[in-house]
Amino acid sequence: MGKVRNIILLGPPGAGKGTQAAHLVETYGMVQLSTGDILRAAVKAGTDVGKLADEIMKSGKLFPDELMAEILGEHMDAIPADKGLIFDGYPRTAPQAELLDGLLASRNRTLDHVIELVVDEDALVERIVGRYTCAKCGDGYHDTFKQPVKAGVCDKCGSTEFKRRPDDNEATVRTRMAEYRAKTEPILPIYNKRGLVSSVDGMAAIDEVTDAITAILGTP
Ligand code: AP5
Ligand code: MG
Repeated sequence: MGKVRNIILLGPPGAGKGTQAAHLVETYGMVQLSTGDILRAAVKAGTDVGKLADEIMKSGKLFPDELMAEILGEHMDAIPADKGLIFDGYPRTAPQAELLDGLLASRNRTLDHVIELVVDEDALVERIVGRYTCAKCGDGYHDTFKQPVKAGVCDKCGSTEFKRRPDDNEATVRTRMAEYRAKTEPILPIYNKRGLVSSVDGMAAIDEVTDAITAILGTP
């Protein structure tokens, strides 16, 4: 069994957090905890949390800190202790960073790395607006950067149905980015002080970004 690592992938919308998390899940056997995915599942299920999340996500604003931590904690509890965690899209505010310390400590986990994906905002809008996923297995694609090998057919599961996120339009993306700059970027110094931050060039090709992250994490 490999070392148990718990890491944060930090970066603005479209930085490649989900893309890189998927690679780390394969290489390191870690578990991805994307708070965005968790909220989208709640929207799909039509729960009260989902109804609130739907409204907030469509605006590009952030879901309330305390409730987000409570939901995240429930998901953490479902993951075996010998699996490392990838926090994708969490924390996003200073209070969330503090809440995460508590969530980890009460589960005897430590934070090993904060990987910052450094990117160019304007290029991100293109990334996000062109993004789509397989409606069946969730495999990710892009109109320009990552098309299926056979047009219109998912590489992974063969489905011919794809979907786009309702918050992937330019206006909402700009709000999501403003939220990132105002509330998420300021948490970097918290982790810098602890010596946990490694910055990676998120504008490089997907494989190169993966290699850079793998070099930071070390042998699986
Ligand atoms: P969330 O789902 O987390 O969205 P996000 O942070 O806006 O980030 P994205 O998922 O859009 O981007 P990504 O970094 O995962 O990029 P990806 O790998 O897909 O959150 C959505 C909403 O939920 C928030 O706005 C908020 O309302 C709410 N929420 C979530 N978490 C919350 C929290 N903790 N607290 C409060 N509210 C919360 O890549 C994008 C595209 O680019 C893909 O098509 C990909 O193929 C392509 N790509 C990736 N890397 C590269 C590369 N190196 N080169 C070229 N193309 C690339
Ligand atoms: Mg994502």
